[in-house]
Amino acid sequence: MVDKRKLPKKNLMVGNWKMNANHLEAIQMTQKLSFRLSEDDYDRIDVVVCPPFTALRSVQILIETDRLDVQLGAQNAHWEEKGAFTGEVSAPMLAKLGVRYVICGHSERRQYFGETDATVNRRVKAVLAAAMTPVVCVGETLEQREAEETEAIVVGQLKGGLSGVDPSELAGFAIAYEPVWAIGTGRNASADDAGAVCQLIRETITNLGGDETGAQIRILYGGSVNAGNIKGLMAKRHIDGALVGGASLDPDTFAAVCRYWG
Ligand code: PGA
Repeated sequence: MVDKRKLPKKNLMVGNWKMNANHLEAIQMTQKLSFRLSEDDYDRIDVVVCPPFTALRSVQILIETDRLDVQLGAQNAHWEEKGAFTGEVSAPMLAKLGVRYVICGHSERRQYFGETDATVNRRVKAVLAAAMTPVVCVGETLEQREAEETEAIVVGQLKGGLSGVDPSELAGFAIAYEPVWAIGTGRNASADDAGAVCQLIRETITNLGGDETGAQIRILYGGSVNAGNIKGLMAKRHIDGALVGGASLDPDTFAAVCRYWG
């Protein structure tokens, strides 16, 4: 099997549907999205949808049966392979469903479900062990930004979340910079601010894994991304894609975000 993580870098658009869409709605959303994207588009971008766990199997069957280029992602994974962890889903279970990307450490998980850098790190390692791509989320709160702690928070979350990961693996990762104050608020970071933090992320990864790794890793921006602001964000040198919440729920809008150059 081709190791996708070793192929040349394309931009990456990830739709995070959060706790929205039952499996029937998820099928429709994926179908509509793929109707709106062409082969030429996929030459430039990887497109991933992350439905809730309950819809993964349905979307997997759709993707495989209709040979869609849309790829499947999950919103979380537990670090143990199996066992007495009621309510959890493991990385190998997701891999078996054709899941290729797993969001790790989303701020909503940090905020509402006690996620820490240490648990993010365990999830990242489990996702890697199951040969999937971690999408590691980092970002500061409004208070931290106002206290000028953005740099320290982001670098700390990166180092904590990636601790002990073999640097040679990092090139295949995606890191999403999501300032907490910009998520679901309609208040996105300016392209300049987002680009500056993404540059900091690239420098941090370069320090950990070397120049080539720093160049290969995909750095996404997330937080109130929409069809109107994506072009400006993607014009920034260190932004290689987006993690899109609300705007990914409407297939027309998400397709417009994916085709950011159009
Ligand atoms: P938003 O969410 O696009 O609705 O702000 C982004 C995210 O939480 O990943």
